Amino acid sequence: MNPTSPFDASARTWDQDPVKLARAQAVADGIRNQVPRQPRALDYGCGTGLLGFALQSHCDHMTLADSSAGMLAVLDEKITASGATRLRSTRLDLVNDPLPPERYELICTLMTFHHIADTDKLLRDMHALLASSGYLCVADLDAEDGSFHGPEFDGHQGFEREALQRQAEAAGFRDVSFTTVFNMQKGTGPQQTEFPIFLMVARK
Ligand SMILES: C[S@@+](CC[C@H](N)C(=O)[O-])C[C@H]1O[C@@H](n2cnc3c(N)ncnc32)[C@H](O)[C@@H]1O
Repeated sequence: MNPTSPFDASARTWDQDPVKLARAQAVADGIRNQVPRQPRALDYGCGTGLLGFALQSHCDHMTLADSSAGMLAVLDEKITASGATRLRSTRLDLVNDPLPPERYELICTLMTFHHIADTDKLLRDMHALLASSGYLCVADLDAEDGSFHGPEFDGHQGFEREALQRQAEAAGFRDVSFTTVFNMQKGTGPQQTEFPIFLMVARK
């Protein structure tokens, strides 16, 4: 029996937000511009698979992994409905599960890092999951003041790029670079705040 996830409840309506679709498309474009096509890819914290679907032609096979059964149920319906042959889903929680045996030439992850407390361990796990010279692509929020999620949120308030680069290098990554791939806006008028989304690309 899988534990419930706070994301289960939002899975059914996740794809109705055009900003989430545009964000995934922008990140997929950024990855395509910086990383050559690869045989095996993993989208970790895939949700309903927005990034994986946008990036599927950039690999031979992609595993879409998430800890939320609700997200995976929606994803499975989308894979079946689209007839996508390169995509498969799996339940994976690197915080609690042992490292799976599969290896990948590309690991991508969008807006998931800030939900994982121990990002040093996550980076080490991703390094271990990559095949030799594989690529890691992390897209997430730049450091922010906590207003993205509000006061109840206990995850990371985005990331300082230089600190994340040092973490990635300590986990064994090299050639770490950052670009800004998307800007999210929240609020309206004078209350409107911009939340830039970075794409970090690194090599094993
Ligand atoms: C903000 S959503 C992003 C979903 C998707 N990448 C997107 O951009 O549409 C974060 C995702 O990370 C997943 N997640 C959170 N903690 C996780 C963990 N420990 N292992 C795997 N997935 C996790 C959630 O279930 C959720 O689907």
